Formats: sequence, structure tokens, C-alpha cells
Amino acid sequence: MARKGGVLSQLDLVIVLAAGEGVRMKSAHPKVLHKVAGATLLEHVVTAVTKLEGKELRVVIGSADDEVKNELSQINVKAKTILQEVRSGTGDAVRRAITQDDSGTVLVCAGDTPLITTQTLDSFLVEHKKSGAAATVLTTEVPNPTGYGRIVREKNEPAKIVEERDATPEEREIIEINTGIYAFDISKLRGALSGLGKENSQGEEYLTDVIAILKSKGEAVSTFEGLDFTEFLGINDRSQLADVAAIYRDRINEALMLSGVTIVDPASTWIDLSVEIGSDARIEPGTAIAGKSRIGSGAVIGPRTTLIDCRVDSGAKVFESHCESSEIGANAKVGPFTHLRTGTVLAGEVKVGSFVEMKNSQVGTGSKVPHLSYVGDAKIGRESNIGAATVFVNYDGVEKHETKIGDHVRIGSDSMLIAPVSIGDGAYTAAGSVINEDVPAGALGIGRARQVNILGWVLKKRKGSKSAAAAEKKEKGK
Ligand code: UD1
Ligand code: CA
Repeated sequence: MARKGGVLSQLDLVIVLAAGEGVRMKSAHPKVLHKVAGATLLEHVVTAVTKLEGKELRVVIGSADDEVKNELSQINVKAKTILQEVRSGTGDAVRRAITQDDSGTVLVCAGDTPLITTQTLDSFLVEHKKSGAAATVLTTEVPNPTGYGRIVREKNEPAKIVEERDATPEEREIIEINTGIYAFDISKLRGALSGLGKENSQGEEYLTDVIAILKSKGEAVSTFEGLDFTEFLGINDRSQLADVAAIYRDRINEALMLSGVTIVDPASTWIDLSVEIGSDARIEPGTAIAGKSRIGSGAVIGPRTTLIDCRVDSGAKVFESHCESSEIGANAKVGPFTHLRTGTVLAGEVKVGSFVEMKNSQVGTGSKVPHLSYVGDAKIGRESNIGAATVFVNYDGVEKHETKIGDHVRIGSDSMLIAPVSIGDGAYTAAGSVINEDVPAGALGIGRARQVNILGWVLKKRKGSKSAAAAEKKEKGK
């Protein structure tokens, strides 16, 4: 990249505009905090511009936007916030972000165009420097320019930017639009900003008007055309949010496939930007992998599986399941219909099957919880088997308690393990037991009433019933 030691070391200031109310989102939350590909719109933009290594980053936010402030402090601690209490236009927002002492080059972009890439911004800034213009506008041609500011040219030179609502029918035909990304010479921009008016349909100070102002002062204004218009799609409503999310999904899937991951149906596979997947992993249809998930090579995820912040080691299979903040060891098998909740750690070769819910539990190598169980706050050793319909009774209504299970343990089906309780190495529990006392190593724990058969009860108490007739027939046949 041209950045090293060159033109971009001269980028003095980056301003991100994020104070708009986002009215068209019809949301209780600021627009820039809505997410695509697992990150807020603000994070996408700030990450892209942070890589440019401008000397300072300022983000213009609206009043009472503590939510935005918090988010920003997590993305880039060095970023400064500038308050624009009353939303009075992009021109006003930029004016507030520039001080009397600033000079040099500023890059301005909007917080609602999350698909922009550092690479494109890089080329754009190189071009701006080369041309020596007072302002360069990043433009692009779009199939449907509705809603964007149009680049009006005179003798092929950019003359002004006109907003959709203020445009004449002829101007609305123009398909070259303003992406909302600009580079300016700061002192010339400062002069132009002082000449802004509010004579437009929104009664706001438009940053876009500085173009005509600079021209009228005889300053050079140039444009740089972005070739892939999808990079500049702005998000103003939730329909556009979905459009951009779909483009992100395709970008991410494409990159993963080229890196050696099989994605059977990219259209139904949603993977966050922050996810890492090893080669030869296979992602089956209807799958979402979110957050800080790491998938090892050769693992198979899906179909219809959601993983949030999970680590899945190589060769493991997770299908038709929902897992959150869990670790799944190498060659383990999870699913179908398994729910792994926060703090589940499965060692290698573990099997967790249908209708099993697990939370805050560790399961040792090769152990199995194959059917219909709840496992909470447990430590299970190696090669143990938890029978169908076992419940780890971990909660007494006040506190959670732990259950410990050793190695090579066989828990009988339908056991209730009332915590705190511990089952020693090699021990068994009888099916249907309620176990509330420790079972020593090698013992069989039985916790149920002994069975009693009352002979002839049906013939006596249910005389004339179909059951009685069936029993009688059996008796006679003897
Ligand atoms: C803006 C441009 C338009 C361009 C489009 C590209 C203007 C007048 N129009 O239109 O030419 O084609 O972006 O996506 O600039 N903001 C503030 N303070 C304000 C107003 C807005 O910080 O007072 C921020 C918003 O949060 C947003 C950005 O500026 O991130 C752009 O504002 P928005 O209202 O989305 O402008 P558009 O109508 O999209
Ligand atoms: Ca916008």
C-alpha cells in the first residue's frame, strides 16, 4: 500500500459523522449502533479509517449519545468525540469538528456506510494529494441513485452536489452520486464552511454545498470514482441495513471459500467478520456463526446450527444445535437438537446428543451424554456415560451446587443427581434413582423404593375391565 512513509503520513485528521438521528431507522437506538456482520456500523467505519493512520480521529455524535460514546471507546480509545447537540446538518457537524489550529488534510466520511474499505480510501487519498485540489469528492455510479446527492458537472468538471429533495427532474436522472466521503485542505474547507446557508428543503447546513462555494472562489475541486458502488451503500433504513448485511455475508463467505472452507449454501450461511475458520471445515446450510467463534480445520458445522463465541476444535461435528460461549473438543459430536450454554467445555471425542441442555460444565475425553438430559454445574471425568433423561439437579431455589462425576462412571437412565453430590471413579447408579448422597468409587448407588407386585389385584379391583379379561385369558392359557 502507498501508505508507508508516503502520502498518507500527511493525513492530519479524520472526521466521522455520526450525529444524525437516524429517523428513518425508527429505532430507540442510534443508527450507527445497528449491526451488520456482527459489528456496529460505527465499528466498521472506524476500523477502516483507523488503519489509515491519520494523526487524529474525531467522531461527531448527537446529544445524549452515551451509547455511541461507550461503543467508540471500545473500538478506538484514541478517538475523540465531538458533540453536535442539535442536528443541523452535515456542514454544521464538520464545522464543530474542526478547530482554529487544524491544518493540512482532512478525510470526512459518514458513520452509516460500513462497506468502505481501507484500500479504497487509501487510493482516494493518494489521488487527492496528487491532484493538489482543495477538495476531492469520492463519487460512484449507481443503478438506482434515489436518495443520494447527485454530482452536477459543467464541462465535465464537478460544479456542485445537489440533494435528491432539492434536485430538478433532470438532475435526478444523474447516476453519479456523492458517497459522502471527501478529502479537503482544512484551511480552505474552514473558509467555505463559514459561507454555508440553510436554503434547502431540510433547512440544514449541507456539507455538500462547500463544493459549489469552493468553485465560486476559484478553488480546484476534483472527484475520484469508486468502481464498486456497493462499497458506498449508505444505510438510512432497515431495508438498506438488510441489503448491506447480505453484501457483507457474501464478502465474508467468498473470502472463507477462497481460503479453503467449504460453504455448501452461501446464501443461507451467516458468518460474522470476527469469526475464524480453518481449512477443510465444512459449513452446512442454515448456519450462523457469530462473535469470537473459532472453528478448527476439518470441523463440520450445521445444517441449521447457531454458534456464538464458541471454539470448535478440528474434526468436531456440530449439527442442528444452538451453542453459546462453549468449547467443543477435537472430534467431538454435538447434536442434533443440543443446547450448549455459557461455560460448557467438552474435551475431545465427547458425544452430546438429542435434547440435551448443558451449562457451565466440563466433560472429559470420550464421555457421552447421548439423550434427553440437563447437565448444569458439573465436572464429568473421562469415558463416562450419562444415561437417558438424567437431570443434574443443581439449584435448590437459592444457590447453584456442583456435581462431580469420576472416570468410567455409568449413570443409569432417569437418574436425578441432587447437587452437591459426587460419584466416584467406576461407580454406577441404578436407573430411576434419586441420588442425594455421594456414591464411592466402584459402588452401585440405588436411590428408589423397592418394587412390590400385588398378585391378582386387577381381577379383584377392576372386575369386568378389558385388562381383567386379558389377564384372565392369560391365566386360562396356562
Ligand atoms: C448524505 C449526503 C449525500 C450523500 C449521502 C451518502 C449531505 C447533505 N448529503 O445524505 O449527498 O449522497 O450522504 O450516503 O451531506 N450527520 C451528522 N449531523 C447532522 C446530520 C448528519 O452527524 O446534523 C451524519 C449522520 O449521522 C450520517 C451522515 O452525517 O452518518 C450523513 O447524514 P444522512 O442524514 O445520512 O445524510 P444522507 O441523506 O444520507
Ligand atoms: Ca446516509
